[in-house]
Amino acid sequence: MKHTVVVNTDKEEAGISRHIYGHFSEHLGRCIYEGWWVGKDSPIPNTSGIRNDVLEALKKINIPVLRWPGGCFADEYHWKDGIGPWEDRKRMVNTHWGGVIENNHFGTHEFLMLCDLLGTEPYICGNVGSGSVQEMSEWVEYITFDGESPMANWRRENGRRAPWSLTYFGIGNESWGCGGNMRPEYYADLYRQYQTYVREYRENKLYKIAGGANVDDYRWTEVLMREAAPFMDGLSLHYYTIPGDFWEGKGSAVEFDQTEWDITMQKALYMDTLLHRHRAIMDTFDPEERVGLIVDEWGTWFDVEPGTNPGFLYQQNTIRDALVAGVTLNIFNHHARRVHMANIAQTINVLQAMVLTDKEKMIVTPTYHVFDMYQVHQDAALLPLVIKPETKEASSFPHVHGSASKQGDGTVHISLCNLNTGVAADITLDLRGMTSLKDISGTILTADQKNAHNTFDDPNCVHPKPFTNVKVTGTQAELQLPPMSVLVLRACHAPEFVEKK
Ligand code: AHR
Repeated sequence: MKHTVVVNTDKEEAGISRHIYGHFSEHLGRCIYEGWWVGKDSPIPNTSGIRNDVLEALKKINIPVLRWPGGCFADEYHWKDGIGPWEDRKRMVNTHWGGVIENNHFGTHEFLMLCDLLGTEPYICGNVGSGSVQEMSEWVEYITFDGESPMANWRRENGRRAPWSLTYFGIGNESWGCGGNMRPEYYADLYRQYQTYVREYRENKLYKIAGGANVDDYRWTEVLMREAAPFMDGLSLHYYTIPGDFWEGKGSAVEFDQTEWDITMQKALYMDTLLHRHRAIMDTFDPEERVGLIVDEWGTWFDVEPGTNPGFLYQQNTIRDALVAGVTLNIFNHHARRVHMANIAQTINVLQAMVLTDKEKMIVTPTYHVFDMYQVHQDAALLPLVIKPETKEASSFPHVHGSASKQGDGTVHISLCNLNTGVAADITLDLRGMTSLKDISGTILTADQKNAHNTFDDPNCVHPKPFTNVKVTGTQAELQLPPMSVLVLRACHAPEFVEKK
């Protein structure tokens, strides 16, 4: 099937915030414990308790921001239980996720140390559902206050002299559900109250995020924007790609047929509709686009792997997940004016993970590779991109999907996904606004089987490869995009053009 992809390389649109490539890690299953944290005394090599192999792998993809401690867990989390000597920390039951004992060994100090080691910005989600205004206020004081105060003094007693920098702070999570089953009117008032006492100390400027809608709950967005927009910097949205039914069976991560593949792609593409509709509401209350739409939970959600704890949400990750990641990140790029941040759920061993671990073993997933390839879009300028199929597509969703951006030095990156499982796409790439092309090549992630995935025995089954098979004529390029593939191309101007500029 032939497609023309037009990129206007001289028409830069919004900046793509690097925070769109953010992550979410919750006290859920084996994400924090066994995933990030093994403790100092573990035989698994670690830095102050954080696994070295995981740290090294995740440093490579440049995670810009990490949301913690939940999720549903956040509205039951009492941060004071997670500081001080480990042996004195309170043991609690993680009622949401498997009813397991949470020993609180990974708390505020450990999370902020992890962010420092990763070179990532923290995004902390505070407890509205079962916490108090005072508790939330004191958490921010503990982390960010420099002077003499009960919380700042306590932090120093616990071994941390200087305050940390903290920008992103969420006021509750899913307050319409696990965060308190509230109505939007009630939550809007609570949001206004709680955020009042989330103080900005010294030059630490906070970006306050209100708990937003579930999927297509447009009324939630409308009420929050109407009642509380001046008090927020961001409003969140949660949407998961679930091929089946949430309660009756979501579908397997690895055993699926063509119909489930197609439904998964359609549902991933639905993110675009959701963003358009939530944005339209936000535009009426905030035409200057000051308030960011923060998609702080997204990704695939399948049935857990057979034999694993149903409360741990452990799932495999195939080339299908890679396509969902590629398409969703393209969509976020296109909505960069309003989408200031997004956080995939979740980094390790939970839902659409980057990394899977089994005791001392670790593998990276196809989704990891997409995040690695797409990091070129972080903080680049969005370029308009239009895809025109030569003939009308028979299927209910487009087979080729893409986005493009330009870095400060003029390098253009185009990310293209072929969602079709059986047919390659012949692409004519028209890079308008470039006078001539020096070179164009890239990296491709593809597979022969639609459920291809990496395992501890075969960790490189789905692995990116260099892509050089591009025929250039002037500023046009011809290439073939294999079925089930994610490609990121890098296009540079010829040197004479750079000199003329
Ligand atoms: O990511 C898993 C859960 O999904 C989160 O805890 C919750 O916020 C959402 O419902």
